[in-house]
Amino acid sequence: MAKPIAIEVYNPNGKYRVVSTKSMPGTRWINLLIEQDCRVEICTQKKTILSVEDIIALIGDKCDGVIGQLTEDWGETLFAALSRAGGKAFSNMAVGYNNVDVNAANKHGVAVGNTPGVLTETTAELAASLSLAAARRIVESDQFMRAGLYDGWLPHLFVGNLLKGQTVGVIGAGRIGSAYARMMIIYFSQFLFVVIIACFVIAAYGEFLKANGEQPVTWKRAASMDEVLREADLISLHPILDKTTYHLINKESLATMKKEAILINCSRGPVVDEVALVEHLKQNPMFRVGLDVFEDEPYMKPGLADMKNAVVVPHIASASKWTREGMATLAALNVLGNIKGYPVWGDPNRVEPFFNENAPPPAASPSIVNAKALGLPVSKL
Ligand SMILES: NC(=O)c1ccc[n+]([C@@H]2O[C@H](COP(=O)([O-])OP(=O)(O)OC[C@H]3O[C@@H](n4cnc5c(N)ncnc54)[C@H](O)[C@@H]3O)[C@@H](O)[C@H]2O)c1
Repeated sequence: MAKPIAIEVYNPNGKYRVVSTKSMPGTRWINLLIEQDCRVEICTQKKTILSVEDIIALIGDKCDGVIGQLTEDWGETLFAALSRAGGKAFSNMAVGYNNVDVNAANKHGVAVGNTPGVLTETTAELAASLSLAAARRIVESDQFMRAGLYDGWLPHLFVGNLLKGQTVGVIGAGRIGSAYARMMIIYFSQFLFVVIIACFVIAAYGEFLKANGEQPVTWKRAASMDEVLREADLISLHPILDKTTYHLINKESLATMKKEAILINCSRGPVVDEVALVEHLKQNPMFRVGLDVFEDEPYMKPGLADMKNAVVVPHIASASKWTREGMATLAALNVLGNIKGYPVWGDPNRVEPFFNENAPPPAASPSIVNAKALGLPVSKL
């Protein structure tokens, strides 16, 4: 028999049983569920990544909905278990849902929620931070200082790249990619390769620069990814992960990039062939990379940790307090909305109404990715 999993329970007599596979930031999400007669069970097991068996044990015999994490494998087995327990709602606490088999969820009639809109700027800011850290060799310099190696200013010490006037490429210019592009326009880029972006921002900023006697910023939609790879000095990856973006950056695409280019990945690890990347970093010491995500997360491919031209952080792109609390709220409301039979919110990117502390949230599920497949009604609010 499977070992029992440690849990913390709120509102034990609540009518609906909602399980969260992890403790999540803030308390608003818990209070919102309790106010609507939910018994909330939070897994407190000291294990970072729960197995399918662990989650089956958490679901148990009766469960109305589950809030889960991007580290979990939500496929046929878990959706079947949730459905058997009477559950019809699951939400990832993430915008990406490459860990979820949506077809399996559809088959079992389970709504799948995600949390767009609340992590856009926070994630773009981390991508911008990694861009600067990689360009100016911040991590290497920090390690050098702490090791007591600094014995005076030198002309060659940690010389990096000036980003002003450089060409920035964005691959996957959706919500986060566009927000990153807007941040880079403000100062660095002379030229942007993006698919969509608020052109008027560029135009207005261009006018401002012209008025100050400076070169205006320009942008264009690249004809191909190869064009971006060839021409950009700094490339940031922001696509979804699916079979079209698996190893989008591989040996060939790395070879197409400039020898001194900077590559940033705040999307998902498997978008980059990490073995090819390690080899490329070895062969091209002036090529730099900033990584928030890894192909075999939580592990790094052999050799990556030794590369001084790599800045690596542990998947923290959405880790601002406001964003993580907001993600928890959206995930809880996705599950609650479905339990209560609410319609789906019309625009999943317009999430502010769900964060107003002084008013109850709209009676809608903020973002359900398979709403159409399940024929769920859309809110008129
Ligand atoms: N590192 C993190 O903590 C973190 C945080 C948030 C999001 N993410 C990742 O970022 C992704 C993007 O989030 P978003 O909110 O901007 O999503 P989005 O749907 O707004 O944007 C995704 C973009 O990828 C593009 N795309 C799809 N297939 C492509 C392909 N084959 N080649 C190039 N572009 C392609 C789409 O056209 C779209 O513009 C998420 O799916 C998630 O995996 C990571």
